[in-house]
Amino acid sequence: MMLYDIHCHMLPGLDDGAFSMDESVLMAEMAASHHERAVVCTPHWLPDSDYDLRTLLGVLQKTGSVLRERGIRLKLIAGQEIFLDENYRETVGLLESSRLLTINRSVYPLVEFSPYVSEHLVYSSIGYLTARGFIPIIAHPERYRFVIEDPSVLKRMKNLGAFLQMNKGSVSGFFGGSVRRTAEYMLSARLADFAASDAHSPYRRTPPLNELHEWLSVNCSMRYADFLLCENPLRVLKNERIYSYT
Ligand SMILES: [Fe+2]
Repeated sequence: MMLYDIHCHMLPGLDDGAFSMDESVLMAEMAASHHERAVVCTPHWLPDSDYDLRTLLGVLQKTGSVLRERGIRLKLIAGQEIFLDENYRETVGLLESSRLLTINRSVYPLVEFSPYVSEHLVYSSIGYLTARGFIPIIAHPERYRFVIEDPSVLKRMKNLGAFLQMNKGSVSGFFGGSVRRTAEYMLSARLADFAASDAHSPYRRTPPLNELHEWLSVNCSMRYADFLLCENPLRVLKNERIYSYT
């Protein structure tokens, strides 16, 4: 079973992910040696980010060629993790004019919010994006305060047209007990649509997804594990329609 990571901070020097090309290579080696075929590189984009798209795509190309030189078989795909706040209309405008990247230029942007975001802002942003033809994938909703307080809001987010991506570190307890419990609820209710590494380094928040796949197979089902880490990610990479788990 090949695994696909749709959320990873593997590119060097653009955000708080890989610090150097050496770290990027280590991260890529870890992923490639644990059954991963492709990783979507999703550097943070915040309103005050000081890199432009040309820089991002240049770094992606350079990293890809370093991996090829070293014989590491891992495909790197362009994306961004786009931070939405009360100025989300402006940010979505940047997406519409192709100054920000969806995942592999599909209709699916990976978006994140502050952990203390208001419920209302999330719903409004989802509505605004879907009205413009984008289908948002919400990064780690299990980490948002309003979701932890009432996980039933996850269903509302999905009913509005969003899909949900759970982090590997959330079930491992990296983000604490309340995030872990929220992630477990999301999984047991089969509300998660993707699982991803959200890896930032080769040391702490790391890329490999094989252990997560195993954990999901044991604690949920093999079929759901494949759905979260292989089938749905592949559909996004091909810009195909995605569905919630049934
Ligand atoms: Fe991230």
